[in-house]
Amino acid sequence: MRIKLTLTALLGIFAAALLPLNVHAATTVLLSHNQLDAHPVHHGVVALKEYVEKKTDGRFQIQIYPESSIGDNEDVISQVQENNVQLLVISASTLEGIDKSYGVFSLPYLFSSEAAYEEFLKQPKVFETLSVKTGENKLRPIGLMTAGTRNFYAKYPIHTPDDLMGKHFRILYSDTSVAMMKLLGAIPVSCPFSQVLRLLEVGQIEGAENNEMSLIDQRHGNICKYYSYDGHQMIPDVLLISEPFYQSLSDADKEIFREAGKEAQRVETEVWHQRIGGIIEQAKSIGVNFLEVDTALFRNAVLPLHQQFLESNPNLKELYDLASGLNESIGGK
Ligand code: GCU
Repeated sequence: MRIKLTLTALLGIFAAALLPLNVHAATTVLLSHNQLDAHPVHHGVVALKEYVEKKTDGRFQIQIYPESSIGDNEDVISQVQENNVQLLVISASTLEGIDKSYGVFSLPYLFSSEAAYEEFLKQPKVFETLSVKTGENKLRPIGLMTAGTRNFYAKYPIHTPDDLMGKHFRILYSDTSVAMMKLLGAIPVSCPFSQVLRLLEVGQIEGAENNEMSLIDQRHGNICKYYSYDGHQMIPDVLLISEPFYQSLSDADKEIFREAGKEAQRVETEVWHQRIGGIIEQAKSIGVNFLEVDTALFRNAVLPLHQQFLESNPNLKELYDLASGLNESIGGK
């Protein structure tokens, strides 16, 4: 049989013969998070993308999916464990059910200032502790990004814990946060971030708790016109890499991803501080009232959680003491 080769096919074969044998298609890496692209988390992961693609000469291509477009974080976790999604940014609280070490962040009033909290996020000991169970849970932390301070906000003003009594408030999926809400007398309702606005709209919850960015980015401020600075929690967002994916990398590439995680953390924190002031002004302009409250009333109600947590998790005492030490050396608000 005679085979007719067109000129294009011949050129193709010729070009293929010239290609060095070690040229492979780039590896696509999927990254999921639940914020808008204006959010500091998105800026952080763009920095990671640029770092990895540059350092690997494009051997890895990072595709970023913001706004839970792959799925809610609670669902994407298993995709990361199975290496269908390689990177995820998720609240440390949501990881508490997988590894209790992350639960330390859900402890109310663990930090006396955001400065102490941000310093804590940079400590190698913190990464080390959060990585102990990586082999088991298939999730490796490579960045800890600030998410400011969580405060209560609602359709009505909250001045004291009495104002929370019997009211439905949305919280993250976290046993420690559930316990905190019960001590404050509120009824905790856990749901994914993407569902909070709808629950507020239909009246299934009277309020929620978060940093100020959710008032604008998630439009919670359209409904909740009172934001009370009780300062109950500082919970970071964890940049996780799929452990099976990480283990498939060469030592040099592992190092690149770890460094990229640090770069994401640095950029996110920087953008956070640049953006937060403007967000508060924007919230005021849509009629949100920011209230100063007596934080001691809230703190005293929930402090017993610290002792309980340490009794059930003695292995986390070192982490707890690290936070207390930074509170002392860096100081409170
Ligand atoms: C913050 C945090 C997110 C979290 C969200 C929530 O925005 O940065 O990681 O998912 O709160 O309350 O669900």
